[in-house]
Amino acid sequence: MRRRDFVVGALGAGLASSGGFDPFVWNASTAKAATARGRVPYGAAVRTDLLDTEFDYKAAIVDRCQLVVGEGGLKWFDLRPSQEQFVFDQPDRLIDFAEKNGMQMRGHTLAWYGAMPEWTKTIASAAEAERELVHHITTVVARYQGRIPSWDVVNEAIAEYPGDGTPIRDSIWQERLGKRYIELAFRTVSAIDPTAQLVINDYNIENPTSQCRDRRTALLDLLRDLKDRDVPVHAVGIQGHLPGDLEIDKDGLSRFIEEVKGMELEVLVTELDVIDNKLPALEYDRDQMVAARARDFLSAISDVTRPSAILTWGITDRYTWVPIWFKRDDGRANRPLPLDAACRPKALMKVINEFTRAAE
Ligand code: XIL
Repeated sequence: MRRRDFVVGALGAGLASSGGFDPFVWNASTAKAATARGRVPYGAAVRTDLLDTEFDYKAAIVDRCQLVVGEGGLKWFDLRPSQEQFVFDQPDRLIDFAEKNGMQMRGHTLAWYGAMPEWTKTIASAAEAERELVHHITTVVARYQGRIPSWDVVNEAIAEYPGDGTPIRDSIWQERLGKRYIELAFRTVSAIDPTAQLVINDYNIENPTSQCRDRRTALLDLLRDLKDRDVPVHAVGIQGHLPGDLEIDKDGLSRFIEEVKGMELEVLVTELDVIDNKLPALEYDRDQMVAARARDFLSAISDVTRPSAILTWGITDRYTWVPIWFKRDDGRANRPLPLDAACRPKALMKVINEFTRAAE
């Protein structure tokens, strides 16, 4: 049985002892999720405002996903237009949608250098930063306590080039508090919702480049430090924004996962897509290359451990962040996601099905 395998796997990863995270809670509370037991849950980032108007988009998510995550909505920029305000409209709508349709919602994200509203630049001292961060996390996590089973607590903490000697990325939190902001964020979430899976989420660790090697080392160093001090971190989220033109460092990535597993942490894929701006124009060829990259990436992880979830950053090529940064020179549309612009499955969907279905 699949349920037993899942639970044994989760307990084997030491989660029972890390901050009260209950492996039964994950993906176990709804009818659709129950049928999904034994699978690796699949999910996608959602643009909440489209759910009322784009029927095929909504249907694709309901039909294929066990998990959703807001592409925005829980970011500071969206939640906190001013220091006094919290605007919960979007995440409230998304979690209702998820629950009505037998899905669960992941939370993204509580502490990140990006998508910060202007007013946060006025945070002037360590005491003020601590007060703001704790107030924010407490308010947001308490609102959804018991309903969001997994949180990206800290997003993209590792510097772009940690090899330069500064391993932690700059942010208002890092500037005012130093790297203890990371510990503070995790402890604060855990105090409010001790049942949630608490994730440190990062990217650019999967290619055979010195940058990716340095980033893996820096992330492992940070995790060791957090574990040594009993900080309630439960999982590493690997974003998986894969540059289509670069090989996957399968050995390097698998060794990284071994180390993570050795620290009794779970692994999940949180934002998979394949950046295809440098891939050939012909759509069929491009889709095959996109799928092959994702297969290499997912097998390097799954060969070592069973990921607790796999999510793509969007579901259809119609709505993707990729052209914001990685537009193609030939003017053709990007094709980074499992469904094409008309919501028809592509080769990447097949790969995701391979890695999410229950073991035979
Ligand atoms: C991106 C969204 O997709 C965009 O719509 C938004 O404008 C900027 O943020 N890594 C992350 C995500 O953790 O939050 C980012 O999402 C993509 C990269």
